[in-house]
Amino acid sequence: MSISLIAAIGRNNVIGRDGGMPWHISEDLKHFKKITVGHTVVMGRRTWESLGCKPLPNRRNIVISGSMPLASGIEVRHDAGFLEQYRGNSCEEEIFIIGGGQLYGKTIGIADKLYITETDIPIEGADTFFPKIDLKEWDCVSNSGPIIDGKSGSTVVFKEYERHRQH
Ligand SMILES: NC(=O)c1ccc[n+]([C@@H]2O[C@H](COP(=O)([O-])OP(=O)(O)OC[C@H]3O[C@@H](n4cnc5c(N)ncnc54)[C@H](OP(=O)(O)O)[C@@H]3O)[C@@H](O)[C@H]2O)c1
Repeated sequence: MSISLIAAIGRNNVIGRDGGMPWHISEDLKHFKKITVGHTVVMGRRTWESLGCKPLPNRRNIVISGSMPLASGIEVRHDAGFLEQYRGNSCEEEIFIIGGGQLYGKTIGIADKLYITETDIPIEGADTFFPKIDLKEWDCVSNSGPIIDGKSGSTVVFKEYERHRQH
């Protein structure tokens, strides 16, 4: 089992504003769906609320919250500790952390892989950020684009990073 973070990141590591996504990029939504469908997605309580408290279809949805009661179609965990059991597990399955900022910050240290969509849209008043990707710890293993998103007109680049392995 491997643990991956997946995020769309703007200039200065921006990922959110006012409890929601600061942009709508359909190419990124398609990319996100293609990568995560059929897998487990794990999100913080605020990201769950930003999705209208509706589970993402065709995925096992886990919401992390210290306070939230159970809801239909999801599993609730009270902290991120349960992810530890998946580290170094020989099973092939990939588990995806899908946000937001608090949960990315808590889990980047145990992640094996990062799927990052970079966008160039300038955002005023952003309040949520992705943690710094330290290139001493991460190797960029895939870089595709730039492509222009037809609907928003923004430029996006899809990158994948794997944790740097000492040889
Ligand atoms: N650009 C992107 O790719 C992307 C992706 C996802 C989200 N976002 C954006 O990010 C923002 C939300 O992020 P956020 O940082 O405000 O919140 P968040 O990480 O989604 O959720 C925070 C909440 O999750 C729970 N939680 C998280 N880590 C925990 C831990 N280790 N142990 C226990 N509980 C934990 C707590 O819930 P309780 O308070 O209930 O205990 C905490 O208040 C929104 O603007 C959203 O649109 C952007």
